[in-house]
Amino acid sequence: MSQPHSEPTNRPRILAISNQKGGVGKTTTAVNLATAMAAVNKRVLVIDMDPQGNASTSLGIDHKHRNINIYHVLTGEATLDAAITPTAIPNLSVITSGVDLAAAEIELIDLENRQARLKEALVNQGLGWDFILIDCPPSLGLLTLNALVAADAVMVPLQAEFLALEGISHLVRTIERVKKSFNPTLEIQGIVLTMVDKRNNLSEMVESDVREFFGAKVYTTTIPRNVRISEAPSHGKPVLIYDLASKGSRAYLDLAGEVLKREQALGISAGVAA
Ligand SMILES: Nc1ncnc2c1ncn2[C@@H]1O[C@H](COP(=O)(O)OP(=O)(O)OP(=O)(O)O)[C@@H](O)[C@H]1O
Ligand SMILES: [Mg+2]
Repeated sequence: MSQPHSEPTNRPRILAISNQKGGVGKTTTAVNLATAMAAVNKRVLVIDMDPQGNASTSLGIDHKHRNINIYHVLTGEATLDAAITPTAIPNLSVITSGVDLAAAEIELIDLENRQARLKEALVNQGLGWDFILIDCPPSLGLLTLNALVAADAVMVPLQAEFLALEGISHLVRTIERVKKSFNPTLEIQGIVLTMVDKRNNLSEMVESDVREFFGAKVYTTTIPRNVRISEAPSHGKPVLIYDLASKGSRAYLDLAGEVLKREQALGISAGVAA
């Protein structure tokens, strides 16, 4: 029997934004999807799991305000709640990345339950959120594993370019392995095509291949290549704040609508359930 949909729950939905390929739009998607969700009154927490710290920078958090960060949560030196930093955007907070996070890949190996450190930190904490979006690094190491073990679902940004499908098969196999060993209910929430250039034939061909292969898992919304999106991080702002009227902002608002609709169909999201 399925769970009753009206069951009250404060548990946030946790989405890992992952693709081991670099530069495909993970951080851009995490930051802008989070902002778009916050704009429709969802309470959103972004967790920056990438030592590069791009999500923290894109959300305008200065290095001097990253003293308690995800590294300390993973190593047990700080609670999740102690690491939460508010952003200038209402309803949106972040747990920043820190310089030590690169070392965490190695340091975690010796810790108990190394793949479930984030999951354990999230249990009974950070419950005031509707959504937690985890920005993963471009690798399938222990940091990404912690995100996949903690997550309910994975969002995969995919750049519409040659060999895109080959790259994603590795991630799909990893998700299957995590499901089998650690997180049986993990699923792919969806695949979002990023940096789409409608004038480019290759981009169009890749899009149709990806849709044929993954079917309804691919969001209808695609994110266009848009210069305002690439300018926004250097201003420490999501594109929705930097230039709301841009094509990039509109695309991320549409994507948020689609993601929330999928969540509603599942009937299990705290902030969305009927
Ligand atoms: N739709 C877009 N249009 C134009 N530029 C984009 C778009 N999406 C992302 N970019 C730019 O492409 C670069 C890579 O994007 P992003 O940092 O989001 O990728 P990533 O997958 O998080 O990278 P990494 O693997 O290094 O973490 C950034 O400079 C970003 O501003
Ligand atoms: Mg990134």
